[in-house]
Amino acid sequence: MSLIEQAAERLGKCRSIVILTGAGVSAESGVPTFRDALTGVWARHDPMQLATPEAFARHPRLVSRWYDERRQNVSRCAPNPGHHALADWQRVVGSRGGAFTLLTQNVDGLHQRAGSDDVVELHGSLLTWRCTKTGRERSDLPMPLPEYPMPSEEGGVYRPGIVWFGEMLPRRAQSRALSAIGVCDAVVSIGTSAVVDPAASFVTMAIDFGAVSVEVNLEPTPISERVDVSIRGRSGEVLPELVKLIVQQG
Ligand code: OAD
Repeated sequence: MSLIEQAAERLGKCRSIVILTGAGVSAESGVPTFRDALTGVWARHDPMQLATPEAFARHPRLVSRWYDERRQNVSRCAPNPGHHALADWQRVVGSRGGAFTLLTQNVDGLHQRAGSDDVVELHGSLLTWRCTKTGRERSDLPMPLPEYPMPSEEGGVYRPGIVWFGEMLPRRAQSRALSAIGVCDAVVSIGTSAVVDPAASFVTMAIDFGAVSVEVNLEPTPISERVDVSIRGRSGEVLPELVKLIVQQG
């Protein structure tokens, strides 16, 4: 039996499934990952100069422009078969009366564009910007922004709705993740290097609680040895096959 078949057999019996996705899921859509040695975002840019509240305070023009360019890039990308397979899987689990929670570290909105519902965005979104003065959020800012940083109507400026290094996860996202992890019987980690907490710790927590665990990644990660089935491959190829087998199980 192949690893994908083994994973499908175990996951098909589960009623409450938590998925954690990372940048690898969007790689086949053309969105760069973070830690790839050559093409990763953090191979070309220092996160401390761009992805912290201090960086934004020091260089608001540079930081807003960089995030706005990333926003424009993802708007030119389309969901790939991996995103679509996850949306299909959610529908199937829902129609069978089960629970399916999609936690993502991605900020590109591609899961939603593929049709996934109720996506828990642990690290915020590139598409939503927030007034520094009032906290009011807007997802309809012009693209590209006419000014960097863009002034808000209330006398502040708009910052990207991203969770920066040194910031807490959005409270609602964190509590939804913990509630789902507490009751799930399966956890699947896909396309993430599993090195950024607390997101990565959600997977190990579920494993500690006894959930069936599967990983899909191009390369080994710190959790590969801990999961029940570790599949090496592209999520855009593995997920459609995995979900097809789960659906066939009925
Ligand atoms: P990383 O760049 O750290 O890891 C991406 C993972 O995806 C790697 O392990 C790759 O091997 C794998 N991968 C690449 N292409 C793949 C494919 N087609 N199919 C399957 N796997 C593939 O990205 P994340 O784990 O998402 O946070 O990074 C976590 C967080 O660190 C990000 O959300 C971001 C970053 O700093 C913030 O900006 C707050």
